[in-house]
Amino acid sequence: MNQSNPITPETYQSYRGLPSLAGLGRFSEAMKPGLSVEESVTRLKRHHYALRRIHTIMIAKLTAEPIYELKMGFSYHAFLSAEAVTLLRARVGEMREPPLGLDKVPHPAMEVFFDEILGAEKIEEVILGVYEVALPSLISGLQKHIDQTHLLADQPTRRLCRQIKTEAEEMLEWGKKSIECLVTPQIREAAKPYLSLLSISLACMGSIDGTQSPREEAPARYYSNKPYQYDKVPRRDERFQDPFNQGVSPETFLYDEAKPVDAKILMMFFKRIREIDVPEMMGSIIMETPGKPWEYYRDLTRQLWDEARHAMMGETGFVSLGIDWAKYTAPNLNWSYNLNTQLNPAERHAVLYFIEQGLMPKTGKRFEWEVSIMGKNPLATTFQDYDWADEVLHARVGRDWYVSSMASSHEAIENGDKCWAQVMQNWEGLRTKGLTQHRNWWPELYTEYCKKVGKTPDPETLAYAISYEGKRADLKDLSYSA
Ligand SMILES: [Fe+2]
Ligand SMILES: [Fe+2]
Repeated sequence: MNQSNPITPETYQSYRGLPSLAGLGRFSEAMKPGLSVEESVTRLKRHHYALRRIHTIMIAKLTAEPIYELKMGFSYHAFLSAEAVTLLRARVGEMREPPLGLDKVPHPAMEVFFDEILGAEKIEEVILGVYEVALPSLISGLQKHIDQTHLLADQPTRRLCRQIKTEAEEMLEWGKKSIECLVTPQIREAAKPYLSLLSISLACMGSIDGTQSPREEAPARYYSNKPYQYDKVPRRDERFQDPFNQGVSPETFLYDEAKPVDAKILMMFFKRIREIDVPEMMGSIIMETPGKPWEYYRDLTRQLWDEARHAMMGETGFVSLGIDWAKYTAPNLNWSYNLNTQLNPAERHAVLYFIEQGLMPKTGKRFEWEVSIMGKNPLATTFQDYDWADEVLHARVGRDWYVSSMASSHEAIENGDKCWAQVMQNWEGLRTKGLTQHRNWWPELYTEYCKKVGKTPDPETLAYAISYEGKRADLKDLSYSA
């Protein structure tokens, strides 16, 4: 008989010392029982609820929030939250659980907690609620879930929690820095009743993950006593000095064969940064279209984030040239403003699709990429390459969620065209109301650019001045936005 040592976690040998358990951990750890499936699902559902609500808060705020950096940060965090929600839903569905329970509020205090953040009066309060209260609790709940669930039996959940935690920490980092920049001691002092209500709610729910002895009740509401009013009117911060200016048509310039390619790149950077208006508009579609399957919100949020990235590509392009975009250009909000205030959400989506499917032919995104190559600008080439790839995805999102609701793709395009034609640009009206003089900022931008690169401005390029004149027909075959 083999007189080998009795098997213990210490004496048990793997083949030639190879890592056991696929490297997940040691036997001594794997021998400890972990959370039940039921408990693990309960926690997953709480993480899910929190992230779903954070997603909505981000989307709800980005349109009316004037500060550009906050719009961009909210767009990103809406995307990260939506991705996390998608993973969590899938995992819950794998755990003997019909995914139906995902729409249930896990604890009444959780609803109050997130309603309060959504309904908070000031953006600083929203930021404090999300980044100083909600996310730290979510992160510690995720860590606890990682530590307590079984490393082998519940490995897919552990992996998921780790992934989500890493991204939640990235969100938190941004939030902390933003709080340092925006929240004064006076604002914090004034936010005391609200912040203390958030703490009480958190105590009632037993933390986001529900592990801190939850109580049955929910606290009395403060901000969320009155129903939340979504604000779909886009606003901009003071760097946008002329937000209704439609005095320059980058499209006309871009498709003019006589214009030099380097100047066209400048116009493309402007086109990109002007795309701030797309998240502003798409946020309103998401907020005002309830009752769709989760995948609808995920796809639209992804597209919203892509459009925010496109805007930041334009911003980066200007920085790369050493040009202050705020001083030399006027990214306007007319498109998001007009669509949000004149069309219903289904019509807005129709217009978005109509414009985006028009970007696919040769005159669209491929053209912009080719201009970047001809202009020998590697940064613009990278940006346009991905902008084009993103656009192909957006056309697919449009087919999946808009065209599929129409009788045919022909009708979908017709309807988009009709809705777009309905939008009143009222170019002259903006002038008579004193909202803008449609100042032609191009010569100053071009002069500044020539100065930076050390060349003499080409007189014909400098003299360029074509306005929209308020006629939508002028834009019909041009890639306006998105
Ligand atoms: Fe875009
Ligand atoms: Fe797009």
